[in-house]
Amino acid sequence: MKKNILFYSFIVSFVFFYSLIICTDSRLFDKNKILTRQLSKKTVFLTGACGFIGSNFLTYMFEKYPDYHFDVLDLLTYAGSLENIPEHIRNSDRFNFYYGSVNNIYLVDYLMSRANFVVHFAAESHVTRSIYDDLVFFETDVMGTRVMMTSLVKYSKSVERYIHISTSEVLGTAEFKPMDENHPIKPRSPYAAAKAGADRLVYAYWCTYDIPALIIRPFNNYGPQQHLEKMIPRFISLLSKNKPITIHGTGEQKRDWLHTYDFARALDLALHSEDFLKIKNQVIHIGSGISTSVLDVAKIILEYFNLPESYLQFVSDRPGQVDCHISSTQKAKELLGWETVVPLKEGITKTIKWYQKNRDSCEKMESMMLVPINTSEGVVDQ
Ligand SMILES: NC(=O)c1ccc[n+]([C@@H]2O[C@H](COP(=O)([O-])OP(=O)(O)OC[C@H]3O[C@@H](n4cnc5c(N)ncnc54)[C@H](O)[C@@H]3O)[C@@H](O)[C@H]2O)c1
Repeated sequence: MKKNILFYSFIVSFVFFYSLIICTDSRLFDKNKILTRQLSKKTVFLTGACGFIGSNFLTYMFEKYPDYHFDVLDLLTYAGSLENIPEHIRNSDRFNFYYGSVNNIYLVDYLMSRANFVVHFAAESHVTRSIYDDLVFFETDVMGTRVMMTSLVKYSKSVERYIHISTSEVLGTAEFKPMDENHPIKPRSPYAAAKAGADRLVYAYWCTYDIPALIIRPFNNYGPQQHLEKMIPRFISLLSKNKPITIHGTGEQKRDWLHTYDFARALDLALHSEDFLKIKNQVIHIGSGISTSVLDVAKIILEYFNLPESYLQFVSDRPGQVDCHISSTQKAKELLGWETVVPLKEGITKTIKWYQKNRDSCEKMESMMLVPINTSEGVVDQ
C-alpha cells in the first residue's frame, strides 16, 4: 500500500512538473515570437518624403517591409506634393502624414520619440534657385538639420539608425578622380554651401555626442517624380513637345548619374546592415563611378525622341558651375555591399516613359521650370 502511494505520488509529480516545463517552454516560445515580431516592426520617420527622392524611397520601403510603419514630415513647398506618394500608401494605416517644418522642434521631437529609423531628406534642393534667392536654403538645410540633430541627441537611445542625406555638391568640382570620402569640401553654390553646413553639422554632433548617425552623399539622382526644374525632367518635358532645350556653357560638365531605385537600395542596406558599428558615424558616397557629360545625356534623350542636334541651344554657363563629378564606389561596396544595377541609358528610357505616362500631373510644374539668374550675359532664365 505504502509502495503504491509512493508510486502514484511519483507519477502525479512527474506529470505536474512535465506539464509545467511544457507550459513554460511554450510561454517562452510565444514570447520569442512576439519579440521577433516587435523587432521586425519598425517605425520609420522620413522628412521631405513628398519630394522626389524621399517619395521614391518611401514607396520602395513600403512595398518591401509590410510590417513597417512610416511617419512623413513635409512642409509641402513648391517641390513637394502628396500626389508623389501612391494612393494605397496614403490610405494605409501604416502611413501617417504630418504637415509641418523640420524647424518645428515640438513636431520633430514627437516623431523622433516614436522612431526606430530616421532618414532626413527635407531640404531646398535646386542649385539655380539658390542663386536666385538663397535665404530659405540656409533656414531649411542648415537650421532644419540643427533641429533634427538636437532632437536626435534627446532620443539617441531609442533611435536605432539615423541617416543624413547630404550631396556630392558639397565637394565642389573634382580635385582628384574618383571622388572618395576624403575629397575636400569646397561648395560652389549657395545650395552646396548650405548642404555643406548641414553635412559638417551632423559630423560635429557625432564628434560631440554619441548619436547613431551616418552621412550619405548621393551623386546626381534622376528617375520618376523629379521636379521639372531639374535637368533630365526639363529636357524630357521640352523635347517631348518638340521644343528646344538650353545647355549651360559647352555641355561638357560631367556628372555621376544615379537612378533613384539604386539610391533607395543603398539606403535600405544602410538601415539594415547587420553590423551597425561598421557604418555608424561614417560618410559614404553613393554614385555609379561613371561620369557622363550633360551633352551626352541630352543626346540620349534626343535619340529617344528621334530629334536632331539642332534642338540644343547653348547659353552662358551657370555661375559656380561644377565641371566634373565622379564618385568612388569603394566604400559603399565594402561597407554596404552596394553597387548600381540600373545602367544610365536604360534608366533614362524608363524615366522618359514615366514622364510620358504622367504628363498631366507634371503640367503644373511647367511654370517653375526656369529660374532667372544673373550670368555674364545679364539676366538669363536657367
Ligand atoms: N536630387 C538630387 O539629385 C540630389 C542629389 C544629392 C542629394 N540630394 C539631396 O537629397 C534630398 C532630397 O532631394 P530631392 O531631390 O528629393 O528634393 P526635393 O526638392 O524634390 O524635395 C524636398 C522635399 O523637402 C520638403 N521640404 C522643404 N522644406 C521643408 C521643411 N522646412 N520642412 C519639411 N519639409 C520640407 C519639400 O516639400 C519636398 O517635399 C535633399 O536633401 C537633397 O539635398 C538630392
